[in-house]
Amino acid sequence: MPANLDNIRNFCIIAHIDHGKSTLADRFLEITKTIPEGKMRPQYLDMMDLEREKGITIKMQPVKMDYVLNGKPYILNLIDTPGHVDFSYEVSRSLAAVEGAILLVDAAKGVQAQTIANLELARKQGLVIIPAINKIDLPQAKIEETKEEILKIFDIDPEEIILVSGKTGQNIEALLKTVIEKVPSPTGEFDKPFRALIFDSKYDSHRGVIAFVRVVDGEIKKGEKIHLLSNDVDGEVLDIGFFKPEMTRAEALKTGEIGYLATGVKEPGRVKVGDTITKLEDFKSKTPLPGYREPKSVVFASFYPEDPNEFDLLNDALIRLKLSDASLFFEPETKELLGRGFRCGFLGLLHTEITTERLSREFGLSLIISSPSVLYKIIDRKEKERNVFTASDWPEQYEIQEAQEPWTILKIATPITYIGQVFEVLSKLSGSHIETKHLTQEKVLISYNLPLREVITNLYENIKNVTSGFASMDYQMSEYKIAELVKLDILIAGKKIEAFAKIVPEQIAYQEGKKQVERLKQTMPRQLFSVPLQAAIGAKIIARETLSAKGKDVTAPLYGGDYTRKLKLLQKQKKGKKELKEKGQLHIPQKVFIEMLRG
Ligand code: GTP
Repeated sequence: MPANLDNIRNFCIIAHIDHGKSTLADRFLEITKTIPEGKMRPQYLDMMDLEREKGITIKMQPVKMDYVLNGKPYILNLIDTPGHVDFSYEVSRSLAAVEGAILLVDAAKGVQAQTIANLELARKQGLVIIPAINKIDLPQAKIEETKEEILKIFDIDPEEIILVSGKTGQNIEALLKTVIEKVPSPTGEFDKPFRALIFDSKYDSHRGVIAFVRVVDGEIKKGEKIHLLSNDVDGEVLDIGFFKPEMTRAEALKTGEIGYLATGVKEPGRVKVGDTITKLEDFKSKTPLPGYREPKSVVFASFYPEDPNEFDLLNDALIRLKLSDASLFFEPETKELLGRGFRCGFLGLLHTEITTERLSREFGLSLIISSPSVLYKIIDRKEKERNVFTASDWPEQYEIQEAQEPWTILKIATPITYIGQVFEVLSKLSGSHIETKHLTQEKVLISYNLPLREVITNLYENIKNVTSGFASMDYQMSEYKIAELVKLDILIAGKKIEAFAKIVPEQIAYQEGKKQVERLKQTMPRQLFSVPLQAAIGAKIIARETLSAKGKDVTAPLYGGDYTRKLKLLQKQKKGKKELKEKGQLHIPQKVFIEMLRG
């Protein structure tokens, strides 16, 4: 029996960062009266505190909305996605769970790098794409130019572009109606055995792993036994329901629907996004759904618990975090000075920073974090290839025959007025220009070869600064190339701090060493004694700063005469300082690691 699914629409909103996805979703939530009166707040679907503080979407968020059009009730399942390139794995997984996408473009900014990248992803997935220009209420909105830019990257009838304002609500209902008209209803079969794709997950200490699913065929109810195909795990549906957007119980999940399913699986590591869930009774006859490609980490950093007894806690935290962040990679490693920890892989620096903050906020962990690094390759004197994930794995210089580093193809979309400024930033980096193409009369797309190392250290911020936020960038990995690199060590009070070591190009090592010790001086709290901060290559010190002593007048409470007491106290203080110095007991607060992590 063919399924009657023509009242369901599954779609997502894709856009460059800040083009207004979450605000548009707010209007949809209002029109469909999904949020009870009085409970609405701006950017409702940004549900994590961290998202609200930083004003960016980190996690995808599904929501089920009900809407009546021409007397017919519809179920509209929307997935809000992040815009930043570091979270693009969230976008690609969302796209696989829906049939259509609204491509939202800011009328003041026009088409930007992630607009193009996300459009490509949606096209590859074969989705129906509805282009819309947002923020038309802005006085600086350039509607005609933006239209022209969209037509350049997307061959459609200009009439099909819908003009909206997520802020004022203008035309939002028309956009929702277009979604109903144009996005196809899901295909699938009600009377086939149950199959669902896990597109996201999270951990609940009572109900085990909660899988966010898109049902492809059949139906599932609470209490039924399930099986996860690729991980070969059995479970039981302890709870089931929809996202409103809070998890809301329901009787069943049926073909074409999006919802959650508490699996009862208590070991978080055994549930993987991209896996297929079937009923236990018929899993043997089922073939898995296509799933997802594994994300490839581009930045690596070592994470060690400040308190070595918290290794297991960190292990648990990473396993749980991985459930709601499938792009996180980690594996245990042991380092002489740091003990037991993890080598972690990320999709970029922002991803590294967000993960660090989540580990501290959600799990109360204090960590020692090494400087993030790209994956270098070394050919040693014995012609053996070695992977170097973090600076502390860097061999002695005499062991190295050849070092190689990853390169990227960088794309920058910028208004022509800023082209000079963009090239000025790029000219300071060790890359090469490929080409510059016109997107329109006013906007160009610059392609550039650049080492990944240069891309991940504040390049985006620098480009945004010189172009008042109008330029945008995206990159793809290309190949490994030979590089002249050295390990830069940072010493505090004469002691090497492994976590701060960095791999840098030989020709900028001095400059970088100076920058690092200066930054350390600014962020490191002063101690009871003065502390030398040094940068070194091998045994050679190349830069030095001194953190002056925190002057504490221990005799201050003693007024007047008692000189011997004063002397005693001063001597006691001196002794204390000496002991501290000898033991090298320097506490490096977490904020210093996070600051040094910024590159
Ligand atoms: P990310 O998910 O982090 O990529 O952001 P987003 O695309 O969800 O954008 P968001 O909805 O957070 O909006 C970004 C900024 O644009 C916010 O300051 C919004 O208030 C503003 N904004 C969104 N839509 C409109 C609009 O239609 N008009 C105006 N004037 N501002 C808007």
